[in-house]
Amino acid sequence: MQVALKIWRYDALKGERVLREYEIDAPEEATLLDCLDIVKDRQDGSLAYRKSCRMMICGSCGMRMDGGAVLACKTRMYEIAQAGHVPVISAMGNLPIIKDLVVDMEPFWGKIRAVRPWLEPGYSDPGEKENIVPQAEMDMIHKESLCIMCGCCVSECNSMESDPDFLGPAALAKGMRFVGDPRDQATVERLQSYSEEHGIWDCTRCYFCQERCPKGVDPRDAIAKLGAEAMSVGIDSDMGAKHAKWFVTSAKTTGWLRETELVPKTQGVAKSVKEMKFALGLLKHGKVPPPVPPHVAKHVGEARALFDLVKEQGREGASGIAQVEKALGHLEHAADESPAAARGPYGEGSFAKPYLPGEEPTV
Ligand code: SF4
Ligand code: SF4
Ligand code: FES
Repeated sequence: MQVALKIWRYDALKGERVLREYEIDAPEEATLLDCLDIVKDRQDGSLAYRKSCRMMICGSCGMRMDGGAVLACKTRMYEIAQAGHVPVISAMGNLPIIKDLVVDMEPFWGKIRAVRPWLEPGYSDPGEKENIVPQAEMDMIHKESLCIMCGCCVSECNSMESDPDFLGPAALAKGMRFVGDPRDQATVERLQSYSEEHGIWDCTRCYFCQERCPKGVDPRDAIAKLGAEAMSVGIDSDMGAKHAKWFVTSAKTTGWLRETELVPKTQGVAKSVKEMKFALGLLKHGKVPPPVPPHVAKHVGEARALFDLVKEQGREGASGIAQVEKALGHLEHAADESPAAARGPYGEGSFAKPYLPGEEPTV
């Protein structure tokens, strides 16, 4: 097949950036990485990019295609070529470019190091026997363990674009991999440090990391798990944590978001005074409901029952999120006849099945 590519070439020494077009003859099964190999081999040996495994394992070949991060060795070119589309290939975002499609990964690794990506078991002598962990407990960090450190999520992170010091999706997903590991004994210290400035609560929840991750790690979900775990052990001094807490209190007490109290509850009274002029403006234009009598939803009892149920079933913290992920995964697989479809998400050795008020727990 004939494949055309536009590639942003960059010379860091001269600071020059130029878009070059290449046309090659490639086999129908070719991936983007195969096409780059052909360009380098037959047309322009000076083209620079990273690769190693060619099978979505090493994480070396992250780059952007038409503005979104991809793994070059995972991206098939057949349909793109058939459609006559000429994709634009460029280096990943949020990392300094060294040459062409090669970025400096040092800022990425610095953040990975900052979350202490190793097990802290709390003892130095490993003992004689293996330390066997139940499958259900490892299920909690199944997705986070799939990360291949490619940086595609970091490339697309909105928060990192405005705050380069933000720990970012890959490092925080790695942090969750250890926070959720039942063998790790440094959970509270980890949660404390991940909850500081540039940590968990600086994520804007844009979900771009989740959309671009080629391995299904779902880093934004990992960050949500970290937030839930931090709250469950009482680490909630960050404004983001207070904000989230107030959402829960609002829903439980009135069934609505009590927005008028959101700023004082999140930022404190002193800071709210500074926002008074803005608040009065909103009030004047009828944008703020009067605080008295409180606006309570007709079926607020349902919101309260839901709150009690989550507590009663022990679904607070990361385990609640992991259970939802498993249930969604089951729904996805149930559409086919594969053996995976027959395997329930709450099967033997897995999480307890959620139940409604009046029902009996089944596990
Ligand atoms: S969801 Fe959060 S971590 Fe993920 S890309 Fe958006 S801001 Fe970054
Ligand atoms: S979370 Fe996904 S996108 Fe991010 S580094 Fe890991 S594998 Fe790559
Ligand atoms: S070359 Fe290893 S992930 Fe693409």
